[in-house]
Amino acid sequence: MSSTTNEKIIAAKAALKLVEHGMVVGLGSGSTSAIMIELLGKACREGLNIKGVASSGISEKLAIKEGIPVISLDVAPKIDINIDGADEFDTKLQLIKGGGGALLREKIIAHFASKNVIIVDSSKKVEQLGSFPLPIEVIPFAQRKIMDELGQMGLSPQVRLHNGKEYRTDQHNSILDLDIQGQTDLETLQSSLINIPGIVETGLFLNTTNLIIMGSGNETKTFQ
Ligand code: A5P
Repeated sequence: MSSTTNEKIIAAKAALKLVEHGMVVGLGSGSTSAIMIELLGKACREGLNIKGVASSGISEKLAIKEGIPVISLDVAPKIDINIDGADEFDTKLQLIKGGGGALLREKIIAHFASKNVIIVDSSKKVEQLGSFPLPIEVIPFAQRKIMDELGQMGLSPQVRLHNGKEYRTDQHNSILDLDIQGQTDLETLQSSLINIPGIVETGLFLNTTNLIIMGSGNETKTFQ
């Protein structure tokens, strides 16, 4: 097993300790969240009684396979804890997410959750966000015009591809990956992007995270 995978498992095991009987749990997306879902599934099979709200079709399928009862956000009375991964984080608990394309539902769940816990391996920690291109979800109808505007803003948008075709999210939208290196005012960047009609959401998660659990070697480090 790679040291990165080991760190993801260690972080997920630490997060599992925060999940209690009766909770509604937000299920993240990506490889670290998949490990979390497998751990939650095992715990359910051993008697833990929780319900999950999935942030992507892939996570939903995995959760169902693992035996976690999955409910839709609309019928969830509350989300007690949301456990998700991240592509980058800084010590101000700001994140870039969406490497797996699930940023929209991830951000919706993060907004409505009472507590947001991010689980990561140590490669995800950065001094300043932006080495990882920022994913944004856009309506395909407006994609070309949005790309022109983002190009003028110096953000070098790239259309995300999958198997040689344009990638489509669970909501049938496109993903553009932006170069935000050197951008320090992320709140302003978020507002500028979200104010462009046709941009549905961005992968900047600036104010949602309560706790980051990072696997570091054979230990965990936390940021809160
Ligand atoms: C999915 O859209 C992403 O936000 C993931 O949470 C993020 O890409 C982290 O994925 P890994 O756990 O695979 O690194």
